[in-house]
Amino acid sequence: MVRIIGFFVGAGFVFVLLWSLVVNGLDYFRNPPEHAAYYYFHKDPRDAELPSDGMMGKFDRQQLQRGFQVYKEVCAACHGMKYVSFYQLTDLGYSEAEVKAIANQWAIEVPSVNPDTGEAATRKALVSDRFPSPYPNETAARAANNNAYPPDLSLITEARHDGANYVYSLLTGYANADTYRNAEGKPVPNDAKPPQGLHFNPYFANLNIAMPAPLVSDGQVTYADGTKATVDQMAKDVSAFLVWTAEPTLEARHRAGWAVLVFLLIATVLAYMAYRNIWANAKRQVSIRGPLDPEFRERMDEAKADSGIAG
Ligand code: HEC
Repeated sequence: MVRIIGFFVGAGFVFVLLWSLVVNGLDYFRNPPEHAAYYYFHKDPRDAELPSDGMMGKFDRQQLQRGFQVYKEVCAACHGMKYVSFYQLTDLGYSEAEVKAIANQWAIEVPSVNPDTGEAATRKALVSDRFPSPYPNETAARAANNNAYPPDLSLITEARHDGANYVYSLLTGYANADTYRNAEGKPVPNDAKPPQGLHFNPYFANLNIAMPAPLVSDGQVTYADGTKATVDQMAKDVSAFLVWTAEPTLEARHRAGWAVLVFLLIATVLAYMAYRNIWANAKRQVSIRGPLDPEFRERMDEAKADSGIAG
């Protein structure tokens, strides 16, 4: 009796569980959960079409110099580059004297110590210094930027998915959330619009970024090589520059890649020829003398037929 009661109680539990599974499952498919605003408005980066793209990619030194100029005149006010040294700029085609002058005139000084008092001080940058951050530490940086931290830009194109294209798209992607429409013409819902101090940008992960659009008007920098400094051009150039800062040896890597491919190709041909050479005799013997050789079998079948042996 107790067993039967136990059975019914158990069956009751199973029934309730199954019931809730079916009802909730149906409800999930009938009224699927609403997607977050990110789902409708976040965009994948646009292609910046940089010359360093692809397996054959090379840097355009002229463009890197322009990109450096944008970094120097715009981005350096908020972003440091602690893995890049001034002396590396000779890679971009600047002479040593020019690099010295660039370091000497850098607007942000390098942290140092007063030799007399031992107190914290700053001094002019030297060629051997890394590009300094404008803030002494992260707390100061956040305090000055609405509690957001402007990341170090040395490795940013490696640190973000589709780095260079992302930086380019981010810089050119600012929009007015009130008038913005996505590809389906959907306006931005009120709860996804930027709160005070943030800026709408569909390329940024959560759509609202603390960095105000840094490149706002054509001609914001004056290029020495006469290139027209449109916002698009400046964004492309600084992205190209940030590819170089993250991987100054990209060209050497591409060249080494090709050398390795050619080497492997030659090695493959040699290995194939060696293989043919080593196995040439062994194969011939098998095909002539083996009991499974079709010619041999044919002769045997004939002999059998001639002498009237079955099978
Ligand atoms: C007024 C200060 C300021 C200037 C000038 C500035 N930035 Fe920023 N930047 C910020 C802040 C603050 C953030 C952090 C944003 C956040 O986390 O919401 C940021 C973030 C970024 C990011 C990272 C975005 C991410 O995915 O996390 C990149 C890339 C960037 N800035 C590039 C640049 C470039 C390139 C320039 C120059 C053209 C520039 N910034 C100029 C303040 C600045």
